[in-house]
Amino acid sequence: MRFNTLFFTALAGFITTAVAQAGFCPEAARFGLISVSPTTLSPGQSFTVTTNLTCAVQLDDTPTFLDYYIDGVSTANIGGPILLARRTYDASTSPPLDTFTTTLPEWFYVSDATYSVRVDDFFARPGPTGQSVITVGSISTGITITGI
Ligand SMILES: *[C@@H]1O[C@H](CO)[C@@H](O)[C@H](O)[C@H]1NC(C)=O
Repeated sequence: MRFNTLFFTALAGFITTAVAQAGFCPEAARFGLISVSPTTLSPGQSFTVTTNLTCAVQLDDTPTFLDYYIDGVSTANIGGPILLARRTYDASTSPPLDTFTTTLPEWFYVSDATYSVRVDDFFARPGPTGQSVITVGSISTGITITGI
């Protein structure tokens, strides 16, 4: 049996700007808008992650759960993403924000990599027979890792 997964990625900065300027929910904001504070972090440092799911809810992509990762991109092999948090989401949350505080895990970060915090938004959608299927979309925001 074949299983198709819908997987979308978008750039948070662009979408945040588009939402702020237009004042409505563009298609690209359908998995939420993620922000972190502060954005410059050293290993072990505490920081806050907020995913604004207003547009996800409005465009009918209310998540059932959210996985958060640290992603790194480098010319060197730096391994896979690090799981930061796995959270369930209650559709009745008001306002529709998922906010939590965590610490940057101690890890083998490298100074020439570009890092980001990514959220994978898992949401249910009816298939052709009306049976619910879970699909996933992701969105990320850049961070700078120092002290490595
Ligand atoms: C969440 O996003 C919506 C839609 O763009 C916006 O109106 C609202 O102000 C945002 N909320 C926060 C707390 O950023």
